[in-house]
Amino acid sequence: MNDLLMVHGGMPLHGEIRVRGAKNLVSKAMVASLLGESVSRLYDVPAIRDVEVVRGLLELHGVRVSEGTDGELVFDPSNVERANVDELNVHAGSSRIPILFCGPLLHRLGHAFIPDLGGCRIGDRPIDFHLSALREFGAIEEKTPEGLHLTAPGGLHGTKFELPYPSVGATEQVLLTAVRAEGVTELRNAAVEPEIIDLICVLQKMGAIISVHTDRVIRIEGVPHLGGYTHRPLPDRLEVASWACAALATHGDVSVRGARQVDMMTFLNVFRSVGGAFEVDDSPNAGIRFWHPGGELSTVALETDVHPGLMTDWQQPLVVALTQAQGLSIVHETVYEQRFGFTDALVKMGATIQLYRECLGATPCRFGQRNFLHSAVISGPSKLHGTELEIPDLRGGFSHFIAALAAEGSSRLHGVDLINRGYEDFEAKLDALGARFERI
Ligand code: EPZ
Repeated sequence: MNDLLMVHGGMPLHGEIRVRGAKNLVSKAMVASLLGESVSRLYDVPAIRDVEVVRGLLELHGVRVSEGTDGELVFDPSNVERANVDELNVHAGSSRIPILFCGPLLHRLGHAFIPDLGGCRIGDRPIDFHLSALREFGAIEEKTPEGLHLTAPGGLHGTKFELPYPSVGATEQVLLTAVRAEGVTELRNAAVEPEIIDLICVLQKMGAIISVHTDRVIRIEGVPHLGGYTHRPLPDRLEVASWACAALATHGDVSVRGARQVDMMTFLNVFRSVGGAFEVDDSPNAGIRFWHPGGELSTVALETDVHPGLMTDWQQPLVVALTQAQGLSIVHETVYEQRFGFTDALVKMGATIQLYRECLGATPCRFGQRNFLHSAVISGPSKLHGTELEIPDLRGGFSHFIAALAAEGSSRLHGVDLINRGYEDFEAKLDALGARFERI
């Protein structure tokens, strides 16, 4: 299929769409199924490429994966086996999830091979925290040209470990390893994103004993056996925010079924401060309606942070909406060092955005002294005009979409299939919201 989309901007988005389970929980819950000795069932799984990649990796390790109706996936891990390195390498560079296979494979097979990782290019994205944690549990790694080989000759044992930064992935690594390690693990400075709490719920359903304490401490009592789970994931709060910003930037009105207020509170505060309106529907067919109430949007000063702060993945769509606010907005990105690359395209479309190496916010962050363009000043409102765009990464790419929809004239977006990594049926959703676009 052609990877190029022509988007005709200037039309407010209007209508209703539905989001499914969160990409950043679903993929981890799929990995967790490897730890069980019986069948697991995950509902509301979105049809996105990251799910296909994890499914492929599970199948290469002997997990039988079958589909039910309406996004149900069933995992049978009764025949987990060592996978062929060449076959695994087909998935090299396609996602960051493979690194989370380490603990489960070490428990099941005593050996793990992890192909080179992929994922969005939004910073260096090292895996040093993952590897130090695995070493603490007793794993030994060997890096070869094909990827990473791990063994645990003395078995995996509970440990006390403090993360240098509350990394989402490294916290998940510790959880997925500690649940079946011998003894107790205490993780300090853990990430506590809602997706992590939901993963803990999945593991608890499987038989794990995990307690979350104040001050980012998670305690895990290892157990020798885990069963399967049946789980309905939390909704994709990253996707919800993307559509909310699209509604705001295009002067539209979009109801997102499946969205939950509790996952979105920090975002909703910012959305309201900027001048957006929203209404929460708590009925069984729950959702949140987001719209532009008319008048000028207001400027804000924002800093991204780990939960419960403003998510880094919300930053990019918000920046597009801020190009339409009256005056100067400031955004300080403190999670990834290179997450403003997508603004070059916005500037090409007519936005006024200046990037700075300094920390333009109250929190001095890890990138302040290190020469990274990680603060942005956005001056608006700017009339955006259509142009030629190349999708750089998942959230940045969706933000280009939003800009193209808000712009006057037409834009040609190259590399749109990258959006399928994390947004299910995005073209059908755009269609449902009255966007004008075509594949060319
Ligand atoms: C997860 O990435 C998400 N991905 C990201 O979403 C999300 O932006 C991020 O968490 C923060 O919420 C998935 O869940 C698949 P981190 P992850 O480890 O786990 C540094 C999307 O678009 N770090 O919390 O990779 C790292 O470089 C994606 O859906 C180390 O230095 O993020 C970053 O600066 C993009 N060493 C910071 O920590 C390590 O070993 C936070 O990263 C690990 C991380």
